[in-house]
Amino acid sequence: MSETLSETVSLTVENGIAIVAIDNPPVNALGLSVRQGLDAAADRIGSDAGIKAGVITAKGRTFPAGADIAEFDIGMREPWLPGVVDKLEALDKPVVAAIFGTALGGGLEVALGCHYRVAAASAKLGLPEVKLGLLPGAGGTQRLPRVVGAEAALQMMVTGKPVKAALAEKMGLVDKVVADDALLAEAVALARAAAAEGGPLPRASQKSDMTAKDKADADLFDRFKAEHGRLFRGVIAPDEILDCVKAAVNLPFAEGMAVESANFNKLFVSDQSKALRHVFFAMRETAKVPDIARDTPLIDVKSVGVIGAGTMGGGIAMNFANIGIPVTIVEVKQEALDRGLGVIRKNYEATARKGRLSEEDVETRMGLLTGSLDMEDLADVDLVIEAVFESMEVKEKVFSRLETICKPGAILASNTSFLDIDHIATFTSRPEMVLGLHFFSPANVMPLLEVVRGEKSSDSVIATGMKLAGKIGKTPVLARVCDGFIANRLMFPYIVASQEMLLGGTSMKAVDATMNQYGFAMGPISMIDLVGLDIIKLPSRNIMAELVAKDRLGQKKNGGFYDYDEKRRGTPSPVAQDIITDIARERGIEQRELSPEEIIAGLLYPVVNEGAKILEEGIALRAGDIDVAAILGYNWPAYQGGPMCWADIHGLPKIVAGLKAMGLKPAALLEKLAAEGKSFT
Ligand code: 3HC
Ligand code: NAI
Repeated sequence: MSETLSETVSLTVENGIAIVAIDNPPVNALGLSVRQGLDAAADRIGSDAGIKAGVITAKGRTFPAGADIAEFDIGMREPWLPGVVDKLEALDKPVVAAIFGTALGGGLEVALGCHYRVAAASAKLGLPEVKLGLLPGAGGTQRLPRVVGAEAALQMMVTGKPVKAALAEKMGLVDKVVADDALLAEAVALARAAAAEGGPLPRASQKSDMTAKDKADADLFDRFKAEHGRLFRGVIAPDEILDCVKAAVNLPFAEGMAVESANFNKLFVSDQSKALRHVFFAMRETAKVPDIARDTPLIDVKSVGVIGAGTMGGGIAMNFANIGIPVTIVEVKQEALDRGLGVIRKNYEATARKGRLSEEDVETRMGLLTGSLDMEDLADVDLVIEAVFESMEVKEKVFSRLETICKPGAILASNTSFLDIDHIATFTSRPEMVLGLHFFSPANVMPLLEVVRGEKSSDSVIATGMKLAGKIGKTPVLARVCDGFIANRLMFPYIVASQEMLLGGTSMKAVDATMNQYGFAMGPISMIDLVGLDIIKLPSRNIMAELVAKDRLGQKKNGGFYDYDEKRRGTPSPVAQDIITDIARERGIEQRELSPEEIIAGLLYPVVNEGAKILEEGIALRAGDIDVAAILGYNWPAYQGGPMCWADIHGLPKIVAGLKAMGLKPAALLEKLAAEGKSFT
C-alpha cells in the first residue's frame, strides 16, 4: 500500500524495502513539498522497525533535476535541502538512489546523501548550478570531491556539464549502471543485499581516501585554474566553487559545509545569479506565443527550398540537411551555385576533420542538397526561405514568381534583415503564408532565429516557424515587423554610440577593452571590423564610410579600424585615427577620454532605450525575449542578463537621467517604469 508523505512524495513498503517516489512534474524539482516528503521519508525509514532499507526514486521522466529554481525568487521555506540530505545519510539503514533521466543539482546532491547509487544506462548526472551563477548548496561541493576526487569534482562543478552513467561509474560516482528497464528492481535488490549484509554504511561525508590524495597534490587548485582560465573569466561562481572544494580537501565535513553555505548565500543574492536565473526562464519562455492556441495545427515541413546560395543561404540550407530534410537551393548563375555548395561541403568537411561528423554523414548531408538554376524546382516544397540580395526589387521578383510556382499551403519566408515583411507579402496573393525567418550569420552556427510575424501571417504559419526553430536547434524569438526587428534594431544604437565615442576622443582600445571587460567576447570596434565595414550603413559623414572609401573593409580586406597581423591581432590603425581626428575637427567635437563607467553608460543606455521602444511598440512580446535575442544574436554576456535585465539591476532612474544628460530622449515606457519604481523583467 502506498502512503502519502507529502503532496509530491509517496512511500510504499515492499517486503521490508521502502520505495520513496517523488512525483513533481515536469522535472521533479525539489520544491517545498518534495523536501517535506523526503524529510518525512527519512523519519519513517529510521523509525519503522519493519523497514530494513530504502530506495529513493521518482515518477515521470527524471530523477530530480535540481532545486525548484522558480521558488528561489518567491522565498524558500524549511525544511532546507542540506538538512534533508544529512538526515538521509545519517540513517543507519541503507538507502539507495535509483537514478534515471537527468539527476542534476540538488537531485544529485540527494543521491550523494544516499549510501548507494544505481543509475540507468541512459542517465546523466551533473551539478550545473554554475550556469545559474550558483554553486551546489546541499552538500555537493563537500561530498562530490570526497567521492570522485577534487579534480573530477571541479571539472563537473565548474563546467556544469553532466556526465553519462557509464563515466559516472568509472569515476566512482555511481556504484552500478543497469539497463533502463531494470533500474528499480536492481536498486531494490541492492538495498536488500546491503541490509542483509549489515555492517557500516558508506557515507560520502565521511570518506577520506580521495581527499587525502588531493591534499598531497600541492598545486592542484592553481593547476585547475590555469588550465580552465576561460571558465573563470568575468564570472564569480567558479572561484567560490574552488574555495568550497579547497575546504572539502582540507577541513572536516561540518566546517566545509559552513564554507559552502556562506559561499552559496553570497552567490544567491549576487547580480550575476539573478541575471542567469532570469536568462534560464527567458530562454524557455520565448517559444510561447500567448495569443496562438497550443493546439493550432502545424504545417508539416518535409522539404525546403532556399533561394540564394550566398553567405546566408548556404548556412540556412545546412540547418535542414542536418536534420534530414531535403533542400533545393536555387541560384541565378551556375558559378554562384557551385561556390555556395562548395562552401557548404568545406564547412561539413571541417567539422568532420574535428571528429564531430563522419565522412559518411558529410555525404548523407550533401546528398540532401540539390542545386538548381530554376525556381520551378520549388513547385513541391513545403517551405521556401528566400536569402537573395537585400533589395526590395529583387525580393519582389522572387516573391511574385514564388506565387505562381509554389503549391498552395507552402510557407513563404524571407530572411531579410531590414525590409518590410508586410510589403513583401503584398507580392503574393497569399500573405497569410508569408513570414520572416531571420537567421544570424553564420546561419548554421548562431543559435537565434527571429520569427517575424507579418500583419497577415496565419497562426499556423507562425506556430510552425516557432516549432521548426527548435527542430533545427535554434531558439525562436517572435518579432513584429519594423526596421531591423529585435536584435539588429536593438544593437544599431550601440554601433552609432561607439562611433560618436571615438569622435569624442575615447580611444578604440579603451572602448573595446571596456566592453570586453563587461563580458562581450569583443568590443564594438573589433566587432565592426569582423562583420565588415561595408555592411553597416550610417546616414551622415562617418568613419566607417571613409574607411570603406579607402578599401578598408575590416578583417576581410585591408583591415578597418585596426590593422591585423597574420595572427589576426589588431593594432589601432593610423589611417582610422586620422579620419577620426579629421571628422571630429570638422564637427568641432571636444576631445575627452571617457572612464570605463562612462563608456558603458554611453554605449548601453541607448541600447536599453531602444529595447524599451521595441517593447512598447509591441515588436517583442516580453523584455526577456529582447534579452535572449541580444544574448544569442549578439553574444551579450548571459551573466549580465541581457540589456533589459541589466538595466533593471543597474537602475532605471539612473538610466533615464543618463540618457537625458547625453541629450537623448528616454522612451515613454522606460520613463514610466523608472518613475513607478518598476522594472522591465
Ligand atoms: N526548477 C524549476 N523548473 C524547472 C527546473 C528547475 N530546476 N528545471 C526545469 N524546469 C522547468 C522548465 O522551466 C520548463 O518549464 P516550462 O515547460 O514551463 O517552460 C520545464 O521544467 C521543462 O524544462 P526544459 O524545457 O528545460 O526541458 P528539457 O527536457 O529540455 O530539459 C533539464 C530538462 C535538463 C532538466 C533542464 O530543464 C535543466 O537543465 N534544468 C535545470 C537544472 C538545474 O539547473 N538544476 C540545478 C538547480 S539549482 C540547485 O539545484 C541548487 C541546489 O544545489 C541547492
Ligand atoms: P549574399 O550576397 O552573400 O548572397 C545572396 C545570393 O543570392 C547571391 O549568391 C546571389 O547570386 C543570389 N541571388 C540574387 N538574386 C537571386 C535570384 N533572383 N534568385 C536566386 N538567387 C539570387 O547575401 P547574404 O549576406 O547571404 O544575404 C542574403 C539575405 O539575407 C539578405 O536579405 C540579407 O539582408 C539577409 N541577411 C544577411 C545577414 C548577413 O550577415 N549577411 C544576416 C541576416 C540576414
